[in-house]
Amino acid sequence: MGETFEPKRIIVTGGCGFIGSNFVHFVVREHPEVHVTVLDKLTYAGNPENIAGLPADRVELVVGDICDAGLVDRLVADADAVVHYAAESHNDNSIADPAPFVRTNVTGTFTLIEACRRHGVRYHHVSTDEVYGDLALDDPARFTEETPYRPSSPYSSTKAASDMLVRAWVRTYGLAATISNCSNNYGPYQHVEKFIPRQITNILDGGRPKLYGDGKNVRDWIHTEDHSSAVWTILTRGLVGETYLIGADGERSNIDVLRAILRAMGRPEDDFDWVRDRPGHDRRYAIDSTKLRRELGWMPAHTDFDQGLAATIAWYRDHESWWRPAKEATEQKYAAQGQ
Ligand code: NAD
Ligand code: TYD
Repeated sequence: MGETFEPKRIIVTGGCGFIGSNFVHFVVREHPEVHVTVLDKLTYAGNPENIAGLPADRVELVVGDICDAGLVDRLVADADAVVHYAAESHNDNSIADPAPFVRTNVTGTFTLIEACRRHGVRYHHVSTDEVYGDLALDDPARFTEETPYRPSSPYSSTKAASDMLVRAWVRTYGLAATISNCSNNYGPYQHVEKFIPRQITNILDGGRPKLYGDGKNVRDWIHTEDHSSAVWTILTRGLVGETYLIGADGERSNIDVLRAILRAMGRPEDDFDWVRDRPGHDRRYAIDSTKLRRELGWMPAHTDFDQGLAATIAWYRDHESWWRPAKEATEQKYAAQGQ
């Protein structure tokens, strides 16, 4: 299957965050003909070190806000495609303070698609499976592209709103857009506020992991490298106007993931604290990615979770100077919430 779209100049929004920076590394490594302009506001979640050392003739960082219509218009005028990762991305933060979620996730997306519409630029919208709400633990169903939207949190509802804008712009204005909804990512460069890095760094710090509620909530884990290859596949071979779900059959309960971390780090399996549950906590996410696999021939490559987890633990062990500056403030915020 050949590529049908061959972009040479792409804008990656949020390219200094976790998944966006992994995508930038992926493009630089796998697609030497492509130039990347990263547009990133460098919020608490954005770190220019994530893309430091990449060749200057391949990657340019523009520090700016996706809600800045003038800046976005100038950059988009010069690009073949926009891959939109920038977002406020953490559920717990969205519960404490939803305002930046509405602004960045909704107004930011609006600003980008308006610029893409004006300049006829291809747009890929990176979204989450959380727009579909949650499934019961004993439900055999998984999310598909046909599942109705039923978001639970301020985070997922603003992501759902942004997906709806893109769909409407496709239908009304013929915007050349695709959408992907992916499950929970793990891997290097993930902020220490998120589940897996928080527990690893708590242990490295001599503290104890923190488990919400009864620990039975299920997430469908995918290595961020597989997310990158899927987004590239959709950008270059996906059908304009279509939505593709991205997942790697990685369903695991939180307590199982936590015990795997504790085992891999040589700690007893009960060496953690139960903490206050997240309000509105989604029970289970599960992705059926048959459409992406069948229609575009994509397959995940990093499906050995224990191996991916061991590599991720090693990365945090080796990169304390990367995560250390964010750790104390993150834990203080959680402590104030009883988490
Ligand atoms: P992240 O929080 O690690 O990074 C977000 C990045 O966006 C940061 O670099 C931040 O500085 C930047 N940013 C935030 N507001 C901005 C603004 N107004 N203008 C410009 N830049 C801004 O997020 P992540 O976990 O890497 O998620 C990236 C995308 O993938 C998001 O759209 C998220 O919804 C989606 N997603 C995440 C997951 C997951 O497991 N983390 C799963 C599926 C989809
Ligand atoms: P998170 O990484 O915040 O991702 P999401 O909310 O997008 O799924 O959390 C993953 C799961 O881990 C979720 O069920 C909440 C739970 N969790 C904990 O049990 N303890 C923690 O310290 C954190 C941050 C999350």
